[in-house]
Amino acid sequence: MALCPKSVLVTGANRGIGLEFVRQFLALKTPPKFIFACCRVPENVADLNSIAEKSPSVHVVKIDVTDDSIIGGARAYVESTVGADGLNLLINNAAVGVQKRLQEVTREEMRRHYEANAIGPLMVARAFLPLLKQAASLSPAAPMSCSRAAIINISSVLASISENSSGGGYAYRPSKAALNMLTTNLALELKEDGILATAVHPGWVKTEMGGPNALIDTGESITAMMSLLAKLQGEEGTGKFYNGVRGGLIVALLKNAPHPSKA
Ligand SMILES: NC(=O)c1ccc[n+]([C@@H]2O[C@H](COP(=O)([O-])OP(=O)(O)OC[C@H]3O[C@@H](n4cnc5c(N)ncnc54)[C@H](OP(=O)(O)O)[C@@H]3O)[C@@H](O)[C@H]2O)c1
Repeated sequence: MALCPKSVLVTGANRGIGLEFVRQFLALKTPPKFIFACCRVPENVADLNSIAEKSPSVHVVKIDVTDDSIIGGARAYVESTVGADGLNLLINNAAVGVQKRLQEVTREEMRRHYEANAIGPLMVARAFLPLLKQAASLSPAAPMSCSRAAIINISSVLASISENSSGGGYAYRPSKAALNMLTTNLALELKEDGILATAVHPGWVKTEMGGPNALIDTGESITAMMSLLAKLQGEEGTGKFYNGVRGGLIVALLKNAPHPSKA
């Protein structure tokens, strides 16, 4: 199965995993007509702006996922750009991640992580929902997929309760666990609209968040995730929590989900 959305929106696209998503979508055999590369400060993202200068399909759009009025402005821009085609793929990638121990964590740090990592992706998904529904409605007979209409939430294996053997990360882990729960809800609710919703762990990746000792670089992580996204199809592909690098399923977020084919 090929990954061929006509339009994709990536939050946190100015560096790290988000920036590499933009590069690899551009490099697809059939690249999207529109790549909305979102960042907090468009005038201050040299790497992204230099890609956009050379690639007319890349639109640099301001989004701070903690600010509803900025999200609303971005939605209006995307809507006027894609028109009746709607938006095929939303990748909620932006996040903050500071590892806090029990004695260090503060209310403020807890709130900051929940705002950016759980509440933000939910509000972005809700704002862009009419555009995703529009895209899904154009191919009513097609199974759910990332080429038709989908929300991909970039989660973390650190969100897994069953795989937590080292503890720590008091603000980050629960914020991503909340994101996984939101993914389940979205998958359940949006199934009837033909919109897929799944969470993906990108691996331990060399970025500002992952640090220099991480196991893989962004190229390897995104190559693996793109191949996973291409395979997500129908009921089997939605409501899941995948390890995007190993390709395996971390946990089926939906209790009664059919057993997935090996992704
Ligand atoms: N790297 C890893 O090993 C790893 C492992 C598991 C999961 N992940 C997940 O992968 C995703 C990408 O991480 P990364 O490693 O690429 O991290 P990164 O290099 O730290 O990049 C984080 C991105 O999120 C943006 N961001 C932060 N807060 C934002 C907000 N309020 N609104 C909009 N954008 C915001 C940052 O923008 P600014 O430049 O403006 O700060 C930046 O573009 C995250 O969801 C992360 O949790 C990463």
